[in-house]
Formats: sequence, C-alpha cells, structure tokens
Amino acid sequence: MADSTEGAGRAGVVGLGTMGAGIAEVLARGGWSVTGVEEQPEALARAEGRIQTSTAYAESRGKLAEGEGAVVRQRISYRTGIDALAGCELVVEAVPELPELKRSVFARLDAVLGPDAVLATNTSSLSVTALAASTSDPSRVVGVHFFNPAPVQPLVEVISTVLTSTGTLERVREILAGLGKTTIACADRAGFVVNGLLIGYLNAAATWYERGYGTRAEIDAALVGAGMPMGPLALLDLVGLDVTVNVLQRMYGQFGERRFLPAPLLSSLVEAGLLGRKTGRGFYTYDGSTTTDAPGVVPPPAASRAAELPEALLVPYLNDALTMVGVRYASPATVDTGMSLGCRMPRPFDQLAALGPVRALAVQQQVFAETAEPGYRPARLLEQLAAAADPDLALHALRAAHL
Ligand code: CAA
Repeated sequence: MADSTEGAGRAGVVGLGTMGAGIAEVLARGGWSVTGVEEQPEALARAEGRIQTSTAYAESRGKLAEGEGAVVRQRISYRTGIDALAGCELVVEAVPELPELKRSVFARLDAVLGPDAVLATNTSSLSVTALAASTSDPSRVVGVHFFNPAPVQPLVEVISTVLTSTGTLERVREILAGLGKTTIACADRAGFVVNGLLIGYLNAAATWYERGYGTRAEIDAALVGAGMPMGPLALLDLVGLDVTVNVLQRMYGQFGERRFLPAPLLSSLVEAGLLGRKTGRGFYTYDGSTTTDAPGVVPPPAASRAAELPEALLVPYLNDALTMVGVRYASPATVDTGMSLGCRMPRPFDQLAALGPVRALAVQQQVFAETAEPGYRPARLLEQLAAAADPDLALHALRAAHL
C-alpha cells in the first residue's frame, strides 16, 4: 500500500463505523487529506480510537514504518457537519444501510460538492442506481465496495450504474489503484460479485448451525480445514449480522430464492442487538481481543452431520460461481480475484478444479434433492462440465476462454 505518498487531494468519508473508519484510514495511508464526518462527537471519538488501534497494529506488524501511523492519523480530521466536505475531490458515503438516511446524505453532498467531485457509496445492500438517480448529476455517482477490514483486504468492487460516466469510472479506478487496491468492475446487481457468492454460503452455515447439524467449533474448523481464513460463523460476526441480513434481504428481493431468506437464528440475533464483534456478541462472545466460546444461543442437538462438511457448504457456493459465470455477470477470473482478494479465500475455480466437476455435481444434486430449493439446482455449466469427455480439461478450457 502507498503508505507515505504525499500530495494526493482532499477526500471525505461520511459515516465512520467499522467500514467508514477503515476507508478513512486507507485514504490517509494513500496520502489523502481526509475529513471524516459523523453526526455525534462521541461517534467521531470512537472512530478516532479505532483508527489509532488499527494504525498502531499496522506499525507493530511492519505494514507501516515506525512513526508512520502518527503521520497517517494527522491527515485525518473529524467533523460533525457535511458542509466541511466542500472542496473535496472524492467523498465516500458509509452511513448505515437505511435508504432514507442515505438519500438525505446524498442530497446534502450533492449540494455541497463541486461539479467535478466524485460521489461514491460503500453500500452493500442498496441500489447504487437509485441513489445516483436521486442526485442532480448521476453520472458522477459510483459504488466503491470495500471489504472488512478495509486496510487489510486488497479488493474494492467498483459498481457502475447505467448512468455512471466513463470519466468517473476511470477516475475512481485510478484513485483506488493509487491506494494499492485491486478493483473488479461490477454492474449494479444485488450482492455484486463477492457478496453474491459469500452471503448465501454464510446463511447456509447459520442454517446448518441452527438445525444442530454441527457445533460452532465443528462448522468453523471444517471450513478452516478447507483453506478458508476463518470459519463462516466467525466471519458472520466479523461482517456484522445486521449487514448480512440486509444483503440477504436485497438478494431475496431481487432473485426470489428462499435460500436467501435470513436463517431465523440470524434474524433473532439481530433483533436481540447481538450483531457480532461490533457489539461484543454474535455467534461468539468477544471480550477485548479474546474470543470466548460463551454459550450464547445453542440450538438443540441433532445427529451431527459435521462429516458432510465442508463439501455441503462449499459446493453450493461453487455452483453459484458457475451460475454467475453462466449468466455472464462475472468471468471465472473476476470471481477468483473477488474471493481471494476480498475475503482471502482460496480461488473458487481452483477449489472446483481440486474437487472435480463430477464430484461437485454429485454433491450439488444431493443438496438439491434434500432441499427441493430451486436455487440449489445444479448450474447448467456444472452439468455441462461434468458431462464432458474430460471434465477437468473442460473446466480448464472454461477458465481459459474468459481470459
Ligand atoms: N493494517 C494493515 N495490515 C493489517 C492490519 C492493519 N490495520 N491489521 C492486520 N493487518 C495484516 C497483518 O499484518 C497480516 O498480514 P500478513 O498476512 O501479511 O502477515 C494480515 O493483515 C492478517 O492479520 P492478523 O495476522 O492480525 O490476523 P489474522 O491472521 O487472524 O487474520 C483477518 C484476520 C484479516 C480478519 C483474516 O482472518 C481474514 O482476512 N478473514 C476474512 C475476512 C473477510 O472475508 N472479509 C470480507 C468480508 S465481506 C465484506 O466485508 C463485505 C460486505 O459487504 C459484507
């Protein structure tokens, strides 16, 4: 990451929760003068504390040179009013996912910013297009979807709408490249690429746990054993259960598949205010830097099906990746870049190659037969790959064809 660059322009971030504070830090580390905006002074103080902790940790891990953390922190100022963003070249909105709130923030930004400023949203569950259309110049509105933790994950999804100008896209890509981020281009569709694959997998893991098919430890350990950087239940706590439910609802609204209805346990945890790490408790309980296995919600035990993991959770996710390629929303390379750089997961098409299309199809058919859920029907591409004379070669050719 370009940590000591000087001379970039002025940027703003509205909303300094987990993501907003991380984005402000990323911009400051790229040399930008950043103004962070929150409504309440207490929220600004929390964000400042978060950035202090993160930059100090980055220094301790050698990601920032000694003393660099202080330089980065000095580039960030904290304000309670959007008016302070006048003159910014780029503003990233990262307020909670409430349509009315986002629209009012966009209306203020629209009035305050100069005509050449880029207006970006970090939304993961609302239509970027609808937000753009509510402004006086939708051509300068774009989605920039960062991944948690923003200073760590190298990926940003850049979401263009049917109204975004090429100039805006080029400028945003250039800025993100200057921050050391890799971008993938996404059309405005529920979940974009990464959440479009990740969130169904996380919901399936929550369902698996809720049904008592495995303990938290069994489920998480099985997926870590399959190469994931963390188990799905721990990841749900990191992402935020509220964020997950919001994305699921949008995906259900757009695709109409029952498997995207939030697992009832997820909804209950959100209703109870147990949103994951940010509130100290979700699937696990967090006490400072320690994760405890405090009881929390423990579903009634059933006959363990842990032996079926990780295939039972991973194959439907790989099937979704093939569906995404089949409908031409993303190429295999884009999917691989998205999951490996957004979530540090193995590349899905490498996982598919390791498993082999024939085995993947057999597992998917079993999941489909058990659930009778149309969303779990084997992807046409998976059936075609498995039926090829040499399925492994056919998969190789599919990847090559999109390069
Ligand atoms: N600044 C810079 N680098 C940092 C840092 C910081 N503040 N904090 C940590 N790092 C670096 C560390 O130095 C380390 O780097 P190396 O691998 O080069 O040594 C790396 O990040 C990992 O840090 P740790 O060793 O402290 O932590 P870990 O190994 O336990 O990993 C994790 C923790 C980064 C969270 C990792 O488990 C991970 O990437 N998990 C997946 C998270 C994920 O999937 N995120 C995306 C969720 S989806 C989303 O966010 C979008 C949405 O809309 C829902």
